[in-house]
Amino acid sequence: MKQSSAHEAWGTRLGLILAMAGNAVGLGNFLRFPTQATNHGGGSFMITYFIALLLLGIPLMWIEWGLGRHGGRYRKGHIPGMFASVWRHPAAKYVGVLGLVIPFVVLTYYTCIESWTLAFTFFSITKDYWGLETQEAMIGYLRSFQSVGDPSMHGAFMPFVFFLATLSINIWIVSKGISGGIERLAKIGMPLLFLFALVLAIVVCTMPARPDIGATPADGFQFIYRPDLSGLKSPAVWLASAGQIFFTLSVGMGTLQTYASYLRSKDDILLSGLATSATNETAEVVLGGSIAIPAAVVFFGVTGATQIAASGAFNLGFATMPVVFQQLPFGHVLAFMWFGLLFFAGITSSVAMATPMMAFFREEFGLRREPVAWGLGAAVLLFGLFHIAWLDYGFLDEWDYWGGTFGLSLFAVAEVIIFMWIFKPENAWHTIHEGADIRLPGVFKFIMTYITPAYLFAIFLWWSISDALPILAMDKTPTGDPYAPEARPYIIIARLVILLLFAAFLILIRIAWKRNRYDDRAGFTEVEELASSSTTSTGLNL
Ligand code: PHE
Repeated sequence: MKQSSAHEAWGTRLGLILAMAGNAVGLGNFLRFPTQATNHGGGSFMITYFIALLLLGIPLMWIEWGLGRHGGRYRKGHIPGMFASVWRHPAAKYVGVLGLVIPFVVLTYYTCIESWTLAFTFFSITKDYWGLETQEAMIGYLRSFQSVGDPSMHGAFMPFVFFLATLSINIWIVSKGISGGIERLAKIGMPLLFLFALVLAIVVCTMPARPDIGATPADGFQFIYRPDLSGLKSPAVWLASAGQIFFTLSVGMGTLQTYASYLRSKDDILLSGLATSATNETAEVVLGGSIAIPAAVVFFGVTGATQIAASGAFNLGFATMPVVFQQLPFGHVLAFMWFGLLFFAGITSSVAMATPMMAFFREEFGLRREPVAWGLGAAVLLFGLFHIAWLDYGFLDEWDYWGGTFGLSLFAVAEVIIFMWIFKPENAWHTIHEGADIRLPGVFKFIMTYITPAYLFAIFLWWSISDALPILAMDKTPTGDPYAPEARPYIIIARLVILLLFAAFLILIRIAWKRNRYDDRAGFTEVEELASSSTTSTGLNL
């Protein structure tokens, strides 16, 4: 049958967990988290962060696994199909367009940032930037690499070369499929990532205070871990921590659902979802929190570190860390590990962002994996070029805002309404418990039905009023600065392109439904699970 051949399965349970953790653990854990935590007052941010984890992150994680696996029963690995499988209404599939366009938008700039980590891995081992020992000098180096500063340090072609290399590796892995590509990558990448992170965390935590600054790594920990209630009055802290929870757990995107669609109904999703969240939080709070922040605090003090975090999203990771490593024994090896860690964290996430599109074109248009993968690669290349060429005009920041921040919460609102309310709490509860080894306490049903949506609505409204509207009106940029007049045309183009993408995919969804003669009111027919004989050898139970 055409559809079942397009639908794949995970090889082993361990592989699945590693791939899910690889999806979640990403640049968000090691770059975005330290910057956000530092920018929003450390100890205050952590309080709202854990509240968001409990009330938004973990419930959404279960909802997404449940929705994904439910879709998988009908051989639907993409959100339009999943929404239509729980809501038999013609609008369902169109709302699902969010789950195709958002991961694509994020993929285009995420691979771009990922390519900087690959480049800096090389520049570290070759000691290319050795000797640039101040924060300012390293920022100059970074900007030169990004071709927005002094071009004499790097040829202007440099970012393109690394982008092309990174994208090709990504697409090659995606073209090998779920178990042959993504699962294998996770089995290699995740252990390496943890190893590198552990070594770096130990090195950083044992750094002595510097005579000129006098701060120890413990001062860095105090800054983020000493509970501080003073920031709780500020909506910005609540919004930033909710945004970080979305981004880091990969919820509100469409990728966890696609991964979960390759599960079977006898697989446990509650424990696995929890294990994924726990792994991500360990990587973020324990490891991510023990590298960049304490290192920056030892070298620049708490005030200095705060200023660095406020000066740009990438300055902590790409400028401060190289400055620190240059002062340590075997610094170039440590720097290689740092950027290598970022690269592995990035690539196990970016391949995930490609999977919703892969599922859509393969399942609905009967296309083979390789052509879809390389076609997708060509599209990412096109938009990636915009990100590189127009970096200084804020094209990337604009896509990051509408796709990676605002988009995630909008999608989550739609998803929670469809899965918890339209599909009904009883069905949702039943679906997530199918095959589960544990039963959730009943209070979670209440949380998922009322608290999570209420929290989401509140955040979303606040966000729209305090951020989205002023940004839309170009009163401020996503980073809070005024828009430069010369950047305006580029920003308008950035927004128009996103709108065009939505329009194109709404049409494609319509074509797909017509082509396959789906009846929205009747729903899809359930596809038999693969016969056990063909799956026991690679069955999910290790
Ligand atoms: N969670 C990833 C990170 O922390 C980013 C991501 C978001 C990946 C959504 C996939 C989907 O970097």
